[in-house]
Amino acid sequence: MRTITVGLPGGSYEVVVGTGVLEEANTHLPLLLDAERAFVVTDRQVAEHWFEGLDKGLRGRGLQPVMLGVPEGEEAKALPVAEAVYQQLAVQEAHRDDLIVALGGGAIGDLAGFVAATYMRGLPLVQVPTTLTAQVDAAIGGKTAVNLPEGKNLVGAYHQPVAVLADVATLATLPDREFRSGLAEVAKYALALDAELLARLEKDASALLARDPASLEEVVSRCATAKARIVESDERDSGRRLILNYGHTLGHALERLDSFAGRSHGEAVALGMVFAARLSEGLGIGSEELVARHQRLLSALGLEHRANLPPADEVLGAFRMDKKYRGGVRFVLLEDIGKARVVENVSDDLIREKLNEMGAAG
Ligand code: GLY
Repeated sequence: MRTITVGLPGGSYEVVVGTGVLEEANTHLPLLLDAERAFVVTDRQVAEHWFEGLDKGLRGRGLQPVMLGVPEGEEAKALPVAEAVYQQLAVQEAHRDDLIVALGGGAIGDLAGFVAATYMRGLPLVQVPTTLTAQVDAAIGGKTAVNLPEGKNLVGAYHQPVAVLADVATLATLPDREFRSGLAEVAKYALALDAELLARLEKDASALLARDPASLEEVVSRCATAKARIVESDERDSGRRLILNYGHTLGHALERLDSFAGRSHGEAVALGMVFAARLSEGLGIGSEELVARHQRLLSALGLEHRANLPPADEVLGAFRMDKKYRGGVRFVLLEDIGKARVVENVSDDLIREKLNEMGAAG
């Protein structure tokens, strides 16, 4: 079991990573004076596997768990779903010291976090991430949001949790594709922030791929530590936190394009990281070896580094829709492993050239 502290001016909290953390929630939660009930926001599938263990842990702390079911996947991140949860809280007379617990993947964490940030102007939140992506990234750092029909994450708030309980046992039941999607985020930390993690994965990724609990604990806690340090240095996303978007500029653009439908977030981000490395190389910031290391790592993790991409002009159009677009596309690029910087004004010609090298249609 490992514990990482996220130290922030508004209050510190711990990220606990290990096996059996759910059942032992009682020992890992901070002091919660006056909390009587824990409203556990979750979906049917996650609840089937993990509610019972968490229920035990919460009861061990004298809390009464109340399950609030929401739809599976991205559908949960919608204002009507948030409204239904608010109404449940009102009917059940939740009070301001009661807990909201997000039990599930990134979408549940975002929705439950948003409800916790806004209901009665804020209730304490515990994140209990059950996917690799959420354990290494989304559950830490306080970003919460719901989607609008017009775009993803357009309505949200910063609301830091009081604890993050990352039980790596929950990763054992993840479908392969979902697990691989999380591996792209692990690769992001290794490439953009943690050269030692990269060296370990290059030497042997087999224990991680086999979901060996000790390896999962080690990798998740390394990534969580990297995330914690970034959030501490830039809680409100005005500088360094942008590094966590490595590979996400192309990744998000691809997710937005219908012709690329069916790919997971991680698959899109993996391609985005290779694209970023190719841009670095094209601009003379990074080397060809940097591109090759990206490709080798992603292959070792079972992720593609080449694919049939949509036409370059469609991708350029999608870049302009990015929330982070301000008069030009900004890319996080690497000078070397672990050395990221933000680059603006990359020419459309270079973007086209690199997309075409990676397999963009005509
Ligand atoms: N997932 C990116 C961030 O938390 O900033």
